[in-house]
Amino acid sequence: MMRIILLGPPGSGKGTQASLLEEKLGVPKIATGDLFRDAVRRRTPLGLKVKEIMERGELVSDGLTGQLIKEKITQPECHGGYILDGFPRNLNQVKYLEMIDSSRLEVVIDLDVEEEEIIQRLSARRVCPQCQAVYNIILKPPKKDNKCDNCQADLITRDDDRPEVIRKRLQVYRRETQPLIDYYQKKGNYKRIKGTRSVEEVFKEIWEWLSPYLANSGLRAGK
Ligand code: AP5
Repeated sequence: MMRIILLGPPGSGKGTQASLLEEKLGVPKIATGDLFRDAVRRRTPLGLKVKEIMERGELVSDGLTGQLIKEKITQPECHGGYILDGFPRNLNQVKYLEMIDSSRLEVVIDLDVEEEEIIQRLSARRVCPQCQAVYNIILKPPKKDNKCDNCQADLITRDDDRPEVIRKRLQVYRRETQPLIDYYQKKGNYKRIKGTRSVEEVFKEIWEWLSPYLANSGLRAGK
């Protein structure tokens, strides 16, 4: 039973690829950013605590993030495997994950995208506040202007996709998350994938690399 970790800077396509993997493998994607944004929208106690931190582009504390992850990965739906998008994000979170769920085969996909492209992508990103679908007004526009294809809700720009916050998020990524690349490279089962090709091409390469692991893990397409 496997966990798939998607690493990569903001806007590298982690969420996009995690959703495709979720659909193909039938195991849950756990995206800490989506969970926090949902809490902010519903104004829960967690949401009230993290709102300003996220708007500044900083990381939520390891304590709150760890608690959220533990609640999710201990659910029965995750027993057969899960996909992590946006967690872990620093070495403390790596150690915590290994402590609470140590017995799984773990594979890490690191999406590599240059900063210039990231800034372009995030400035053009629009998201659906209801179903979390992600669009890009240049590369993947919705069928109807500013309306979600799935649920017709008005699309929004994320609060942290403002240029100054994108720059801050990149800074935080370089400082906190980049060291994980070295860690997972040494640990093994790690693959760096060029994230600048089309969504389909990136997914194809991910799928080809994953296939031998899937064969050994009990997971397979359309499970
Ligand atoms: P989070 O939501 O995880 O944001 P992020 O890591 O900055 O990543 P993004 O969601 O911005 O980008 P992505 O890589 O998923 O790309 P996407 O597929 O959307 O976190 C937000 C905040 O929550 C953090 O700043 C922090 O405050 C908090 N947080 C979350 N996790 C935390 C943790 N573990 N610890 C502490 N705090 C935490 O794609 C981006 C755009 O590009 C889209 O428009 C998409 O359509 C487009 N696109 C995707 N793929 C391609 C492609 N191949 N070609 C062209 N365009 C593409």
